[in-house]
Amino acid sequence: MRSAELDEFVERVNERTDIYSVVSRYVTLTQRSGRYWGRCPFHNEKTASFSVSPEKGLFYCFGCGAGGNAFKFLSLIENITYFEAVKLQAQRLGIDLPEKKSSPEEERRRREEKSLFKINEFAQDFYHECLIKTARGEIGRKYLAARGITEETIETFKLGYAADDWENLLSNLTRRGFSPEQIEKVGLIAGRKNSSGFYDRFRGRIMIPINDVFGHAVGFGGRILKSEDDNIPKYLNTPETEIFNKRNLLFGLDKSNRIIGSTGVAIVVEGYMDAISLFSAGIKNVVATLGTAFTPEHAKLILKYARKIIFCYDSDEAGQRATLRALPIVQAAGANVFVIKVPEGKDPDEFVRKNGKAAFDELIKNAASLVDYRMNYVLARADISTIRGKVTAFREILPVIAGIKNPSVRNEYKKKIASALALDEQLVDDEWKKFSSNANAEKQSPVKKIKSLSTDELLIKEAQESILRMAWHDEETLDYIKFHLPREIFTETQREILSRLEEYRKQGKRLTQISAADEFSEEVNAELSRILIDGADDPRGNDKELELFYDSVDILRRAVLQKKYETLLAEADEYIPSDEETYKEKVRESLKVRNEINKLKISN
Ligand code: CTP
Ligand code: MN
Repeated sequence: MRSAELDEFVERVNERTDIYSVVSRYVTLTQRSGRYWGRCPFHNEKTASFSVSPEKGLFYCFGCGAGGNAFKFLSLIENITYFEAVKLQAQRLGIDLPEKKSSPEEERRRREEKSLFKINEFAQDFYHECLIKTARGEIGRKYLAARGITEETIETFKLGYAADDWENLLSNLTRRGFSPEQIEKVGLIAGRKNSSGFYDRFRGRIMIPINDVFGHAVGFGGRILKSEDDNIPKYLNTPETEIFNKRNLLFGLDKSNRIIGSTGVAIVVEGYMDAISLFSAGIKNVVATLGTAFTPEHAKLILKYARKIIFCYDSDEAGQRATLRALPIVQAAGANVFVIKVPEGKDPDEFVRKNGKAAFDELIKNAASLVDYRMNYVLARADISTIRGKVTAFREILPVIAGIKNPSVRNEYKKKIASALALDEQLVDDEWKKFSSNANAEKQSPVKKIKSLSTDELLIKEAQESILRMAWHDEETLDYIKFHLPREIFTETQREILSRLEEYRKQGKRLTQISAADEFSEEVNAELSRILIDGADDPRGNDKELELFYDSVDILRRAVLQKKYETLLAEADEYIPSDEETYKEKVRESLKVRNEINKLKISN
């Protein structure tokens, strides 16, 4: 959604934003040759290759290729969208957000949502009162007490009890003026199958209210008191509703988000009771999934508050497999992932109740890194009695090790795994080479590798960049570029930038930093920043830059012609000895190209 008002707002925030002050909140910067340098927060490094140019309002890391303007920086470091970054910066600068005018439809939805929250709130209070005050709630109080849950915890989480009754909640809520249709919308009651009317979904259960991160009551988990009957599920949850979506809800986050933010660590557990138990033991940076798999949405949610995520799932096989499935999701989201395996086959709830907070803190301290955890998992299950079993295990771990950015750490792990599997080093090296050449062929890592270039390649690269820089500042040059150079001479990213510039020119618009960062892909953005951070602020009236531009066009033209020349010669060769006429024709053509090359000002 874009509007003139929003654009104007973004522009206003941008005007008052100084990239130096934005970045220096997160990175220590020192001045060197007109720019600021620091250690890149987006990859691990010892030397400073992360640079900030306040005049240009850009940052760029020569190590990992991340780059962009101040908002881009904020969105990367805070893991928020570009527009959220603009809003965050506006907040920090004390600039008011533009008034949002909502459509009647949005207005209706908001009202509907509010009324659904309201119903859940009433239900939550009703269940809670029933637990703490009524005779029917006694059985629930006893159950919780037996599980070591204190009254304070019951208050904190507003735990409740749903009596074993078919219409207890229904009649109470309808008396308060809610219609059964409304109550059904939040999943608290369901329609009877064989007759008209409704019945309570939750009966004879401890009720655990589930809130979204803002604290709105969105749903419930209900635990059965006794589970002798295997046909009755131990936990019953609110079904998916307009306001209850398990993919992007985390139990406890409304209470733990601040402490997760301040400690920089989130602990993820599988069960409500695990979260409640850890929280009340004083380990408050905890959240739980709602009986479903960990999703990328969950990862994003947590990353708003912390970069380090520690998984602490049940130590049984199911829990460990769930951990394994969650790990790549969190890693891909950019988190630092660690895993706690609770000893003695216990779940976090049982462990902390039996051993106390200090013992759990110790587990946190010794949490395994993602790589160690994966290695231990594979090693524990590997068949090391055969070479084949060992190689299989090694291949399973390879991608994990390859994902380690630091080369010396990576080597350490390679050695470690080779010795743990008693694998021949030569074999390890071979497998490693096979894997990395495959991986390279398959896809370029999003973080660009700095490879060494030949002099020719370097010249071409510089030329491409100087041309792009000129095109960015002066769209009049686009025609000149188009006339003199085929598009193929540019990289894919550069081609995207050029066609964007042309598109904008057609519409009579100027591409500004802001719209660029907003609409371009990560790669395009980084490429642009890298190109723009070098060179003059505005190269248009600058003779040196102009000369560089024309030279650059010639360099690229020469590269194009050279290629053509070589192709023609190779084609000519094909006709020896069969067709002398065509051979000569091709050679003549190639010589013409050669002449064109010689006419270019720049020749070697
Ligand atoms: N779960 C569920 N439905 C079930 C069983 C489990 O939704 N029938 C979900 C719940 O979110 C539960 C989590 O899976 O919290 C973990 O389940 P489990 O390990 O079986 O339960 P515990 O957390 O150990 O619960 P308790 O200690 O109460 O037995
Ligand atoms: Mn348990």
